[in-house]
Amino acid sequence: MSDSGFPQNFLWGAATAAYQIEGSPLADGAGPSIWHRFAHTPGRIRNGDTGDIACDHYRRFREDIALLRELGLKAYRFSLSWSRIFPEGVGAANSKGLDFYERLVDELLAQGIEPMATLYHWDLPAALDDRGGWLNPDIARWFADYSSAVFRRLDGRVKLWVTLNEPWVVSDGGYLHGTLAPGHRSHFEAPRASHNLMRAHAASVAAYRAEGQHQIGLVVNLEPKYPATASAEDVAATARAEAHMNRQYLDAALLGKYPEELMEIYGEAWPAWKPAEVAALRVPIDFLGVNYYSRSVTRADASSWPLRASAVRQPHATHTELSWEVFPQGLQDALLWVKQRYGDLPLYVTENGAAFYDPPSAPAEGVQDPLRVAYLREHLRAIRGAIAKGCDVRGYFVWSLLDNLEWALGYAMRFGIVHVDFESQRRTPKASARFYSGVIATNGGSL
Ligand code: BGC
Repeated sequence: MSDSGFPQNFLWGAATAAYQIEGSPLADGAGPSIWHRFAHTPGRIRNGDTGDIACDHYRRFREDIALLRELGLKAYRFSLSWSRIFPEGVGAANSKGLDFYERLVDELLAQGIEPMATLYHWDLPAALDDRGGWLNPDIARWFADYSSAVFRRLDGRVKLWVTLNEPWVVSDGGYLHGTLAPGHRSHFEAPRASHNLMRAHAASVAAYRAEGQHQIGLVVNLEPKYPATASAEDVAATARAEAHMNRQYLDAALLGKYPEELMEIYGEAWPAWKPAEVAALRVPIDFLGVNYYSRSVTRADASSWPLRASAVRQPHATHTELSWEVFPQGLQDALLWVKQRYGDLPLYVTENGAAFYDPPSAPAEGVQDPLRVAYLREHLRAIRGAIAKGCDVRGYFVWSLLDNLEWALGYAMRFGIVHVDFESQRRTPKASARFYSGVIATNGGSL
């Protein structure tokens, strides 16, 4: 541990995801993903935005890695697009897809930056969606096969692997509420999709134990839930919301069980899993990645389907462009909660950041983003506090390196510490990037 309160080799990084930044989604033999299809369905993404060009990172990755280096980042978390590597989802691998990620990884290593690779950040091959996607139980095998092909090519060079990014979002946005690809709205589908996600995670970890030699983990988004009042109804609603978002995936992956509240939420739609099927979801992982953006103060709400719980907006708090409350203490609470509930697991904060308004083109005097600077400073201090209380936090990845496609909200929401002018593709580090650089240079001492 250094004097700054952060471990000596703390990995200071930034995160991105394939569909949000790469562009050229069909280049070099790639197949379409569900996000490509969703974006090209009128009305699904704000302003009709698509990932066709995005940050053009597929062609500009060297420039982006040079930026990482210039800012002094030690690590970079990116995701691989399954449909670049298996255009049909299964079958023959498209080696040009793997070549792209190999070039990316080699360039990172050449610049002294540690890669963390996520196998699934939401862009399922459309061909697999045609076969039922996350509802088809065969997907565990499809995902394991894809994972193995990637491990075989890159495990010598990538030492930190992530199976899935945020299974809750995949299921909740994709299958329960339909706001994200593939856009279904069904409380029968959501728990089945979640279960298959966790089966796929377990199968990919098993494949890694056969092929890989380094570390593999899971990334979940945690949103601590606090009851709005002490009433029994609000407390029960909070437990439902918390079970749904936080414990559903971690209890499955780390304890081999599902929280009881899920049955209450889904009622007749809750599948009658056999205990052995659920126990099989628990496989040892080497680390857990926690994505944290905000908390929720929760109250009982009979009109909110299917959870019967909704969030109460906090009147005196700062909110981001997405209306998310800025609540740094929640990050510390989340990390301590993981330690207390699941034991001592190496942790990475694999995403944390904020969308605040920045102009579409960078002003000559630079992009001043004091709210984002304050957000990052306070969240990093919260992590320092969690470390002081005994959490084994090994790294931090700001979301995001670049302004990018914020899924169904398009390009209007800017999360980057580096501004992207989407007309010219010019990158301009914001004040928050300079701030973060200073933090890294002192290993957190400047906080
Ligand atoms: C996701 C990112 C997303 C960010 C901000 C996370 O849920 O992993 O892809 O852009 O949050 O919404």
